[in-house]
Amino acid sequence: MKCAKLESQLPTGYQLYSQVYHLFYTRHKDTLFLERIYSPLWRNVLEVGVGQGRLVPFFLEHGVENFTGIDISSEMLERIPAEYQRTGQTRFVHGDFLEYDTNQKFDLILYAYNSFNYILSQEDAYRHLQQCCRYLKPDGTIFLDLTFPNCLRNGIGSKSRLQAEENGRAYEIVIEHGYDMQQQQEQRLFTCDVYDCASEPRQKVDTVQWISNRRFYTIENILSLARSLGLSPTNMEMYLSEDGKYYDGFFIILKRNAY
Ligand SMILES: C[S@@+](CC[C@H](N)C(=O)[O-])C[C@H]1O[C@@H](n2cnc3c(N)ncnc32)[C@H](O)[C@@H]1O
Repeated sequence: MKCAKLESQLPTGYQLYSQVYHLFYTRHKDTLFLERIYSPLWRNVLEVGVGQGRLVPFFLEHGVENFTGIDISSEMLERIPAEYQRTGQTRFVHGDFLEYDTNQKFDLILYAYNSFNYILSQEDAYRHLQQCCRYLKPDGTIFLDLTFPNCLRNGIGSKSRLQAEENGRAYEIVIEHGYDMQQQQEQRLFTCDVYDCASEPRQKVDTVQWISNRRFYTIENILSLARSLGLSPTNMEMYLSEDGKYYDGFFIILKRNAY
């Protein structure tokens, strides 16, 4: 079963999502996990789906030599703060990772904050990991962070709400959750009302809607894909939601021929 409007022509991807992404997704448990397992060997880092550069300060603080971020969405890349772009250590590339071509090799390749879930078929997931193997140094590390779909715990058709304010504007988002069993895809319909807080009472100035699709990968899915490419898990951890009430996703570290 799908959300009512999921068949409509609403924009998908990050054209609109990018406008509010930084208001809601600035903090995540991945930095705590990466801190715990951090290796001084991670000198050349590639983030696939770098978004608005949330993890750039983390890696700069750890003194990486080169940080390359690639993203398919120009709207997300445009919102990377200028100070992250000015350092000699960073480079940002616009494009699909599956078409990325470079002579560089990396010590760490990461898909943070469920970027891997935006790969919507098992075939493409395989091709992504294959690309990683192509650009990974022999002793390199792959980090994946995968989410569990919201509707698995709250049900198809369930709604969640987010609120934030910035520059005199309030953003109120309702997210309706759908799930396509056959495709193993979660579909989220975002409706964002924007209010001008300066007026009394505050005025609604805009409503925007977009759809975001993510594919659900089980731990077994990932392990079997990885195995078929000669990658083995060296660390794996499920993590809890902010309120500690449910498992939100899992982190997994893969290495080539680890055993
Ligand atoms: C959930 S956001 C994560 C952003 C960032 N990694 C973070 O941790 O905040 C997922 C990002 O992956 C990007 N993306 C999805 N598929 C991609 C692909 N094939 N190649 C490059 N980027 C991709 C999207 O445009 C989006 O910016």
